Parts: sequence; structure tokens; C-alpha cells
Amino acid sequence: MSAIDHETIGNFEVVGDEAFTRREVLLMGALAAGSLVTAGAASAEPVAAATTGSAEAYVARDFGHLVSANMPGLSGKQVEQHLKLYKGYVGKANEIHGKLKDAEIAGANATYAPFRELLVEQSYALNGVVYHELYFGNLGGKGGEPAGELRSAIDSQWGSYGRFVDYVKAAGKSMRGWVLVGFNTRDGHLECFGLDLHNMFVPANVVPVLVLDVYEHAYMIDYGIDRGRYLDAFFSNLDWDVVGKRMAATARHPVGHASTT
Ligand SMILES: [Fe+2]
Repeated sequence: MSAIDHETIGNFEVVGDEAFTRREVLLMGALAAGSLVTAGAASAEPVAAATTGSAEAYVARDFGHLVSANMPGLSGKQVEQHLKLYKGYVGKANEIHGKLKDAEIAGANATYAPFRELLVEQSYALNGVVYHELYFGNLGGKGGEPAGELRSAIDSQWGSYGRFVDYVKAAGKSMRGWVLVGFNTRDGHLECFGLDLHNMFVPANVVPVLVLDVYEHAYMIDYGIDRGRYLDAFFSNLDWDVVGKRMAATARHPVGHASTT
């Protein structure tokens, strides 16, 4: 298995199965713990949230090859700084994961409580890790145009490759964080979504196959505030092979449209 295969499939598993399963486990733990708050209130003993797993849940992946890849329009310095940011998200995701293991759940409150704040930032940190991995994972290619099943899916949804690119670039100019092109497992087609933050406007049951970072930190070193030129550079360095493999992997997603009835 090539490095790309490993990275691509690994990303998919994190997004589609493993990471979400962990999150569900944590949230289920929180919900279960919530039912104990009433009982805990009658007791002098604080009730700890019962979560499982190691504190170091996330390990930063190595995208260092992109720094020296001489990508046209994306400098090594730009990518290097971006990778530092990504590693920071990995650290915070682990920090939150570790704190949730021992979180104080007595006094849970929807206005403010430390436990609530951890839950709020949990998806922000996790998505900050995963979306960056998907973004770096689909860079380093030669651009061009997609082929095969992926091309058919794009043509079916947007009419032509040119219209697809125009649409994604317009989405990139519209949003403050991310653009995701993902496979909608509810209805079995590709769809484009925009996010203003890592965890704002995230679509349910959509498996990302193409991820575009439009935060200013992704391009300020190379382009200042000229996001349009950055979007051109992104497509010039897009690895359609990786995107196509992600698309193929969606067939193994456990929440396919056939199972949602
Ligand atoms: Fe970023």
C-alpha cells in the first residue's frame, strides 16, 4: 500500500468511522453521566464522567513532504506555518480528550460549566485536526481534471468540470473557514458545503472527499488578501487521485443511503 493509499484511507476512517465513533462514545458518556446528575446532587460525592480511551487519542500525521514539494503557488514557508497550526489542533484535541476523561459532571449547566465548555470545544478541536489532514492529504498533486467514477459524479451534479470548479471557487470566496465537497450518504450524490468554523455548518452524514481551507492563514504569506489567486493555486496542486480514492471509499461508509430508511 502506498503512502497515499495509507493516508487517504486513514483519513477516511478517521472521518467516517473511527473519530466519529469516539465522539459518539464521549457524547454517550456525557448523556449517561447527565442522567446521574440528579442522583449525584443528592450525594456529597462528585460524579466523574465515565469515558474510555487513552489521553493521547490523536497523533499528528507527517505532511512534511509538502514543505519541500515545490508546489506551484504554495510556498514551503506557507505550508510550514500551516502545519504548525495543524499540530496545535492535535495538541488541543488531546488536551480536551484527556480532560473529558476526568471531567467534573456534577453541576452540569447549559449556560456555563467547565464540562459544557469542553463539549463545545471538543468538535472544534477534532474537526480542526481532521479537516486539516484531509486538506493536506489532497494537496501535492498535479491538478488537471478528475476521471472515472469521480468525474461522472461531478458531471452528474454540476453539469461539467468547469462549472464544478467555478462553484467550488465561489464557495471558497463565500466562506470563512472551509469548503467541503462530500458524498451525501443520505441520497448518494456529491454535494458542496461551506463552513465558517471547524464546527459551524458541518453537514450530517456527508463524507468529505475534497477539502479546501479558506482561512486567511492558508494563504496570507503567499497572497496577502488575494484569495482568488490562492484558489487557483489550490486547484493547480490538487491530487485528484486521492480525491477519487476517498470517493471510492465512501461505498464502505456504514451510513449509506440504503440503510437510512
Ligand atoms: Fe488551516
